[in-house]
Amino acid sequence: MAQPAYAIDQMISAKSIAARIEALAKEIKAHYGETEKLVVVGLLRGSFVFIADLVRELDMNVEVDFLEASSYGNATESSREVRILKDLRGEIGGRDVLVVEDIVDTGFTLLHVTRMLLNREPRRLETIALLDKPARREVDIKATWTGFEIPDEFVVGYGIDYAQRNRNLPFIGKVRFLDEGA
Ligand code: IMP
Ligand code: MG
Repeated sequence: MAQPAYAIDQMISAKSIAARIEALAKEIKAHYGETEKLVVVGLLRGSFVFIADLVRELDMNVEVDFLEASSYGNATESSREVRILKDLRGEIGGRDVLVVEDIVDTGFTLLHVTRMLLNREPRRLETIALLDKPARREVDIKATWTGFEIPDEFVVGYGIDYAQRNRNLPFIGKVRFLDEGA
């Protein structure tokens, strides 16, 4: 399927993201205490840049694992079905777990993933999302920590894609579709 033409307008700069992650890391360290061991679980693929920057600000004992859940095809509309495409490698029972998500949109992904992980009886389970679009929420869930609340816009960059493109942008940008007839 051909991609409609679009432009990307910067919404959150690389500098602002870095500053926000530094502040979030301080809150996270204060919450857990410096010496505890934390399993940081990145939700693939959108969180890969965020988790890389976040763990490097967490000077504590961390283990990194990944989970892939899918709620999107190559489209901009969310579906209610969440499939687990790749499970964790490690056990989380009795451990402190921090789930790292790129965006909380309708909330279905975070809801399903946290429910599934809570069944494994972690000691504590917290969540962090770089972005939150509260206007789009369909289920009552909020990440423990949020980087930025944003309006109902489709965004890309800093790990986040539009049909697998633009994950490598260093900033968060808003997708603006161009009217090809104009
Ligand atoms: P939810 O299950 O509706 O909360 O959707 C969460 C997932 O949808 C995120 O992890 C993203 O992968 C994807 N998503 C939501 N909004 C956007 C967006 O603006 N751009 C790209 N992906 C998005
Ligand atoms: Mg995602």
